[in-house]
Amino acid sequence: MQKGNGRAIVIGGGGGIGGAICRTLAQQHHHVVVADFDEARARDVLATLEGDGHTIEVLDVTNEGSVAAAFERIETQGPARVLVIASGGPQVHLGQHADVATLARDAWDRTLALNLSGAFCCLQAFARQRTAKPLAHGRVILLGSTAGSVAGSGVDIAYSASKAALLGMARQAAFELAPAGLTVNVVAPGPVGTPEFFRNTSGAIRERIAAMTLAGRLATPEEVSASVAYVASAQADFVTGATLAINGGVHMA
Ligand SMILES: NC(=O)c1ccc[n+]([C@@H]2O[C@H](COP(=O)([O-])OP(=O)(O)OC[C@H]3O[C@@H](n4cnc5c(N)ncnc54)[C@H](O)[C@@H]3O)[C@@H](O)[C@H]2O)c1
Repeated sequence: MQKGNGRAIVIGGGGGIGGAICRTLAQQHHHVVVADFDEARARDVLATLEGDGHTIEVLDVTNEGSVAAAFERIETQGPARVLVIASGGPQVHLGQHADVATLARDAWDRTLALNLSGAFCCLQAFARQRTAKPLAHGRVILLGSTAGSVAGSGVDIAYSASKAALLGMARQAAFELAPAGLTVNVVAPGPVGTPEFFRNTSGAIRERIAAMTLAGRLATPEEVSASVAYVASAQADFVTGATLAINGGVHMA
């Protein structure tokens, strides 16, 4: 393994939460691959990372060929120990109030393609690499959401369904990948004050959502990235198939 904590691929690394995860992992001596659909966002995040040995990778998780090619390029540069998938999000604007009766089929398909099939595609590519060449303390960390466990947070049914499905996917993958030394976990945030979240919500919506937490506020991206860094660490070898809820008490399980 390379010096430090090894390589960590962060899919959606150009995003609000993904960017914070990249910065925290870099601070903790991982060599980070900032992997995103949006090259400019990935480069912006890359420029903020402490230390050296970080790279970017452009990929579209909804395109199997793009994912396969990206993972192959990454593996050639040096095998990664950690995979974080933070590339999802609602495809229906929170203010649109789409419900089960009104959600367009296309919105359902796009949401599942990004949040669930896209995550599966990355998980599968990584699983193939790490079962072929296992590394100590291998990790897969999926970004879930409180919306995968509770109703009424304001998001649409496709988003909730995709995030609930991630929980089952993580548990089954944890079971199947344990022999290869990989743990698979979900970090499930409640509302997080990312730039995208601010762009997609009005002040009134944000206040209503923040009031659902016991703290009466949104989480910071760093509160989420800290828990991802813990799961990525060697100290978390005994944590697998788990969901870490970072939600200010919106959902207590
Ligand atoms: N922000 C919140 O309040 C919140 C709450 C709970 C869960 N989450 C989850 O956390 C994760 C990150 O959310 P965020 O708020 O940082 O979102 P974000 O929109 O800021 O970041 C998502 C990133 O994914 C990238 N991306 C989008 N489509 C892609 C594709 N097809 N292929 C590759 N990359 C693609 C985007 O370019 C972007 O950089 C998501 O899974 C989201 O569902 C967010």
